[in-house]
Amino acid sequence: MPATPVNPAFGSVEDVAERFAAHGYIADRRLATTVFLQTRLEKPLLLEGPAGVGKTELAKTLAAASGRRLLRLQCYEGQDESRALYEWDYGKQLLYTQMLRDKIGDLTADAPDLASAVHRIEEQDSVFFSDRFLAPRPLLDAVRGDQPAVLLIDEVDRADEALEAVLLECLAEYQVSVPEIGTYTAKVPPYVVLTSNNTRDLSAALKRRCLHLFLDYPDAERELEIVRSKDTGLPEAAARHLVDVVRGLRELPLRKSPSISETVDWARTLAVLGVDELDPEVLADTANVVLKYERDLHRALDVLPRLVDPNRTLPEPGHHHHDGHHHHGGHHHHDGHHHGPGHGEPEETDGRAVRAAMDRQGRHDEGYYGAPGAGPTHRTTPGAGQGARSFAAVARRRTD
Ligand SMILES: Nc1ncnc2c1ncn2[C@@H]1O[C@H](COP(=O)(O)OP(=O)(O)OP(=O)(O)O)[C@@H](O)[C@H]1O
Ligand SMILES: [Mg+2]
Repeated sequence: MPATPVNPAFGSVEDVAERFAAHGYIADRRLATTVFLQTRLEKPLLLEGPAGVGKTELAKTLAAASGRRLLRLQCYEGQDESRALYEWDYGKQLLYTQMLRDKIGDLTADAPDLASAVHRIEEQDSVFFSDRFLAPRPLLDAVRGDQPAVLLIDEVDRADEALEAVLLECLAEYQVSVPEIGTYTAKVPPYVVLTSNNTRDLSAALKRRCLHLFLDYPDAERELEIVRSKDTGLPEAAARHLVDVVRGLRELPLRKSPSISETVDWARTLAVLGVDELDPEVLADTANVVLKYERDLHRALDVLPRLVDPNRTLPEPGHHHHDGHHHHGGHHHHDGHHHGPGHGEPEETDGRAVRAAMDRQGRHDEGYYGAPGAGPTHRTTPGAGQGARSFAAVARRRTD
């Protein structure tokens, strides 16, 4: 049976954008173009960017919009290739040998010694190491299945180099070899989406093979559009204001910058409270919806009044100053690239210690998600090399 996609292939960049929008994903032109090219060039797409900018969601939407099934390989440290490619279904093999005990007994009944009995069983290997007893994992499933697939290889930076090499091999030809059986080749190449949070550098070979897209926080208009598309119930003017406030928060040196989903959560929260105009008090009361670390929360509370109303005069220094620096009024960050004085300045020892501790944590730790996005937030350098795997490092390199 020839495998045919449920939906026709994307006809144009606009078609991608429209079909994505129909599935609730707001794509800008660059993103839609990249997806269109990916489906035409049959190349894997490598998405990099901070947490919560819609990397995983893009792959899910691609599956929905193209009518393909979604196969997901979640990468983690120490993962071995059997979890990615295939495993032998040991339980099934065992069950079959038990049920066939008599038959196997017959085979070896007249064997003169143990060695020849083993030899006779060995001759039956191909029965037990056949397609029937194979438990396909996402990579094999993607090339073996009858239905075309979208293969999401999520957080590939967490996988070890060894697994990355296996991925490369598979992606080069859309093939998986099982020594006991042979090589499976995809009838319809899967659309492959790899995502990375940049906790380590990926190999040049992998990057070369892929179309590359850096997904950053969206600009204010697109973020507003996303919020709008989620029907949060927050009035338009307040939503617009909220997007500006969140963008301001992203410029702070936070452990975990608020992402798109946090903006949406915050909008929903405010709508539930019946808010139709933002004020610092209601934002302060609900900031815990978007900031998940106590320290981040304190930092945000310090600047919220100014973010809500840029013309507001600030209280005297000395109140609420947990992090050893104070802020100057008069800035409103509309473009997300403006970097005013006052925040992110070299901090006192406590800040330094906290960040150093963050950088020491294993790469599975939340701390790596905590880099303040790719915006030009200026941070003190915690020590050469340490930050090289985080977006903070990228941000530093850009601004230094
Ligand atoms: N362009 C977009 N259109 C609509 N919703 C979006 C868009 N981008 C992000 N979102 C929303 O943000 C949420 C978070 O996105 P997602 O989980 O894909 O982030 P991610 O980049 O994979 O983050 P992580 O690195 O933490 O895995 C999604 O569930 C989705 O609701
Ligand atoms: Mg994700």
